Amino acid sequence: MDAFVIKGGKHLRGRLRVHGAKNAALPLMAAALLTDQPVNLSSVPDLADIRNMIRLLNELGVDANVESADAGSTQRGEMKVRLHTKDDQKSEAPYDIVRTMRASICVLGPMLAKRGFARVSMPGGCNIGDRPVDLHLQGLRALGAQITLDGGYIVAQAPGYERGKPGRLKGTRIFLGGPFGSTVLGTDNVMCAAALAEGRTIIESAACEPEVVDLARMLIAMGAHIEGAGSPRLVIDGVEKLHGVEHAIIPDRIEAGTFIMAAAMTNGDVTLENCPLEAMGAALDRLHAVGVHTEVVVPDGQPKPVSQGQLSEMCAGHTVRVSSSRRLEPIQVTTQPHPGFPTDLQAQIMALLCLADGNSIITEKIFPDRFLHVAELLRMGANLVRSGASVLVSGVRELEGAPVMASDLRASAGLVLAGLAASGTTTVNRVYHLDRGYYRMEETLRELGADIERVDRPAV
Ligand code: EPU
Repeated sequence: MDAFVIKGGKHLRGRLRVHGAKNAALPLMAAALLTDQPVNLSSVPDLADIRNMIRLLNELGVDANVESADAGSTQRGEMKVRLHTKDDQKSEAPYDIVRTMRASICVLGPMLAKRGFARVSMPGGCNIGDRPVDLHLQGLRALGAQITLDGGYIVAQAPGYERGKPGRLKGTRIFLGGPFGSTVLGTDNVMCAAALAEGRTIIESAACEPEVVDLARMLIAMGAHIEGAGSPRLVIDGVEKLHGVEHAIIPDRIEAGTFIMAAAMTNGDVTLENCPLEAMGAALDRLHAVGVHTEVVVPDGQPKPVSQGQLSEMCAGHTVRVSSSRRLEPIQVTTQPHPGFPTDLQAQIMALLCLADGNSIITEKIFPDRFLHVAELLRMGANLVRSGASVLVSGVRELEGAPVMASDLRASAGLVLAGLAASGTTTVNRVYHLDRGYYRMEETLRELGADIERVDRPAV
């Protein structure tokens, strides 16, 4: 099992390019099930979860052609993926794939809408919490689907479905808010299903995440009628058919945020290309409050500081230079649905605030138990007190290297950041979690001057 061995204390310096977003790519790939024509995706990150989604789509009768960076026409760490449905009789998403990747649930809405029938293994909980799918099912039921549970599988059927005849879902008004706000993949599932339903669907309390907007953009390019993407109210007028499309995945705001924090924690000076500033308002706001400087590098080479006023005008893919003050200010951070601060950057900002000059408070409002990194950061000398869904972070002068255990994707990223800034050697075990969401992170960090190696360790 791979581990990272990090000798901390190096200032990160240099340039990197942000990859396409995993969390945008996964539902967009599943949406290929909505059409018989080819869906050609570019800027797809080359990650374990993406390979799993390809395996799942193969199981569901979709042919996948993958062109990776080795072929020369794509960026390092990205792929072009062509998805083409060849057999629409296969409708079972099996347990052994779904259990490895919860985003497998994204095939439910597209299959139900296009094939009239789906049998998808019920995803279980995971290290970041229970993660129910009740809102997905509630939304699909509102569209007329009959849904039952059978031996751990969700079995869904559209009204009028018979063998050889898919039937059709029916548009309606749906409220998709839950106890923790909107649901990202739930909105994706219901939006995909409604795109082929009969009549108008209105989704209230829809997720506003940039990844949902990317899916809507692709569906519109496939012939769907969707208005309001990026707002909590989606209006979808169903069409009978969707056609093929070529689409480039948006850059990964979480990968970008992670590297910005790595630069800040190491007193570095790093330039990120393809950085989706427009999608990062809350993260940049908090980082500026900490004392992290970001400057947009304009084509004539003259950097200009990023202000909140400019953010809304910026489209994806900017070049941004990041540096930080020696003194990091303590702050309050609350994770919220977009446009709030993303839960997927909570572990990383906790690592950063461990080194701030004073007391910070982090409150997790999306996954209240997403704190497995707390115990590991304590092993590195952090001063953290958890109370329910909040953690009081009292800054320390220095973190000390230690062996730590990665528990989920973003917690792992937080531990790597801590290791980069700590004195001595940190070993982050079980980095397979990290590999699900970051393309060869150790190589990128090494190119920026970090002392980091991937080693093969016996399982711990
Ligand atoms: N929720 C329900 N019922 C549902 C669905 C969600 O109560 O039917 C709750 C969840 O338990 C959670 C909240 O609603 O408390 C939000 O969950 P959401 O459904 O939005 O999460 P998701 O769509 O399953 C995606 C990302 C996660 C990211 C969350 C929140 C993908 C593949 N996953 O998950 O990303 O944390 O949105 O932004 O897009 C990651 O990349 O590390 C990751 C976990």
